[in-house]
Amino acid sequence: MHFRETRTFHVGIIMDGNGRWAEARGLNRVAGHARGARRVTEIVDACPGLGVTHLTVFAFSTENWRRPLLEVEALMRIFRQYIRMKIEDLAAHDVRVRFIGIRDRVPARLRQLMQDLEDRTAHCEGLNLTIAIDYGGRDEITRAVQSLARDVASGALQPGAISERGIAAALDTRELPDPDLIIRTSGEFRVSNFLLWQSTYAEYDFPTVAWPDFTAEHFAESVSGYTRRLRRFGQVLPSAGMARASR
Ligand code: IPE
Ligand code: IPE
Ligand code: MG
Repeated sequence: MHFRETRTFHVGIIMDGNGRWAEARGLNRVAGHARGARRVTEIVDACPGLGVTHLTVFAFSTENWRRPLLEVEALMRIFRQYIRMKIEDLAAHDVRVRFIGIRDRVPARLRQLMQDLEDRTAHCEGLNLTIAIDYGGRDEITRAVQSLARDVASGALQPGAISERGIAAALDTRELPDPDLIIRTSGEFRVSNFLLWQSTYAEYDFPTVAWPDFTAEHFAESVSGYTRRLRRFGQVLPSAGMARASR
């Protein structure tokens, strides 16, 4: 298969079920997060073969700060370890990494590592990997509205000139295409504040497997299910084949 076309295929993953995976095995929830972090590499490696050009993973939501402090601290440590361990590997695999989310609230040590990883892979042209940390769709939209309002207040922008394109350009995801497919593991059927604006016409898949058990095979199954769907984008299809989900 060749995917050297300019067409993009953006998959978002809500990596859910770490805690339940651990609890079901009599382990601490943190053990589930550690196992979950290890899953990311296999999924990232599988992307080129599946035609995935953009992968966005939800690692920590704006609501996840409300979890017990010990769990939050463990997650921050796991994120730091992941970046330290993977930075050279990701660069060697030509993976361009970006982070979306609030950033200022992330502990300074982690924030610096996030910056290092973005800088180290800024020249990479293979997979676009976006990691959502302290990310919430509502918060992202709120910050975008604030920034547009500042432009209106300064006279740089007329209210009537605010467009969908302008709003998209004010979001953290301004450099990314909209997601085509969003996968949420662990059998939960909700969005939990992930890519709210961007997912308008995304297809969803909800595999029941918990994130620490999600393999490249499960990923390939989700993608292959997606390619069999018809995306209509609100339109009447001229011919069924035309809007077949492409990747
Ligand atoms: C996803 O796993 C990881 C984060 C939200 C940080 P959970 O920790 O939500 O696992 P469950 O849903 O409790 O099983
Ligand atoms: C969504 O999962 C956030 C991440 C996977 C990082 P949650 O486990 O936080 O979502 P809810 O609380 O079940 O909706
Ligand atoms: Mg969860």
